[in-house]
Amino acid sequence: MKAPGTPVVISLRGLGQLAPLDLQGYRNSGGFSSLAQALTTGAPEIIQMVTASGLRGRGGAGFPTGMKWKFAAAEPSPEKYVIANADEGEPGTFKDRYIMEGVPFRFLEGLMIAALAVGAEEAWIYIRKEYTRSIGVLKQAIGMLYEAGLAGDDIGQSGRKLDVYLTAGAGSYLCGDETTLLESMEGKRGNPRYKPPFPAQKGFRGKPSVVNNVETLSHVPDIILNGPDWYRQVGTEKSPGTKLYCLSGTVAKPGVYELPMGTTLRQLLYDYGGGMADGAAFKGALMGGAAGTFADASLLDIPMDYDELKSRGATLGSGAMIIMGMEDSAPAMLHNILKFFRHESCGKCVPCRIGCHRLEEMSEELLGGSPDKTMIMQRMAKESQMMARTSLCGLGQSPVLPVTSVFRYFSADF
Ligand SMILES: Cc1cc2nc3c(=O)[nH]c(=O)nc-3n(C[C@H](O)[C@H](O)[C@H](O)COP(=O)(O)O)c2cc1C
Ligand code: SF4
Repeated sequence: MKAPGTPVVISLRGLGQLAPLDLQGYRNSGGFSSLAQALTTGAPEIIQMVTASGLRGRGGAGFPTGMKWKFAAAEPSPEKYVIANADEGEPGTFKDRYIMEGVPFRFLEGLMIAALAVGAEEAWIYIRKEYTRSIGVLKQAIGMLYEAGLAGDDIGQSGRKLDVYLTAGAGSYLCGDETTLLESMEGKRGNPRYKPPFPAQKGFRGKPSVVNNVETLSHVPDIILNGPDWYRQVGTEKSPGTKLYCLSGTVAKPGVYELPMGTTLRQLLYDYGGGMADGAAFKGALMGGAAGTFADASLLDIPMDYDELKSRGATLGSGAMIIMGMEDSAPAMLHNILKFFRHESCGKCVPCRIGCHRLEEMSEELLGGSPDKTMIMQRMAKESQMMARTSLCGLGQSPVLPVTSVFRYFSADF
């Protein structure tokens, strides 16, 4: 077992060693041998390997990837889709573009293996239009796959057909939600769908679909290459593998760090991130982005994986870690987050449409130094809890996380 905090490279393997578009170099280093294996081994074995590896979705929810593939593979429809979620809209999250721009073939290989496993003949990438550089690299990489006979009507001379498409969304946070993404891909307004049916039953164009995050898919080639037992040696028992932690805020060396799941915030910040910026003293962190939780120093030594953080009322989410120094204002950060949610709420359901406005207004009152702060804080907690219970999608269900955690750890700042 690799100790959490020890660098291991899986999703970013090859970054900085190979030119991003060096297809031959990627193949020489074992690239596309997992795709070849998937073509000969058969779908059930591939799904079994991914299930046994314990790979969980890196888009935020940590759902088991093998299980998701199994559901879609079991659907009788001859038409299915696999979609890479490259929307990367969570504030503080900037990891997927490192993969797409640095090791595009690793990601594309994972996406294609997923399609073969599920029985899809079309693999799609849904990406936000602001990611112009990623779009440029991916378009070239996809073109090279067709030229090399690795995509198209007869991939790797196997007789199997698999087309790879890229489509750009306009850059709405909500369009990163999987059912909203599907609406957007179909050319409709970015509103979420009711669930069930889940995408595995009725997704893109009404057909069984799998939506996976870019980072999730980038783990797949090495899982197939080295086997599930190898993968399970890294990370924690319930969250094997590595995670791309996005470190930003008041930190000396902000950036993307690939480390085993279960690495602590202290290790990430001090062993890799160079400690606090400009001699600032550590105050806390916003973990998991806007739809995440505030934490103080009491969480510095907690292994950061899905379950450990959840058991302490915190979130790993997409892996965003925004560091706060003593000078950073928790009320101002909360206000920014609530302004963001109000702006991104699509307005389809009442609790979120009205609730996001109310939360923003109340946080503004707190920032303005209202004398009724205790009452306002109680009302904000109550309102966000009500939104969590009654909102249609993850956006309206999320404000409760930063609201209740900021009051838990930093009420003195208000
Ligand atoms: C408001 C909202 C925004 C989201 N944005 C993203 C995103 O940008 N990228 C992403 O991969 N998942 C995002 N998700 C999660 C997706 O709905 C979905 O769970 C994920 O793409 C599944 O992939 P995974 O199983 O590989 O994690 C978002 C969810 C919500 C509710
Ligand atoms: S919770 Fe918010 S973002 Fe989601 S459907 Fe309702 S109004 Fe739209």
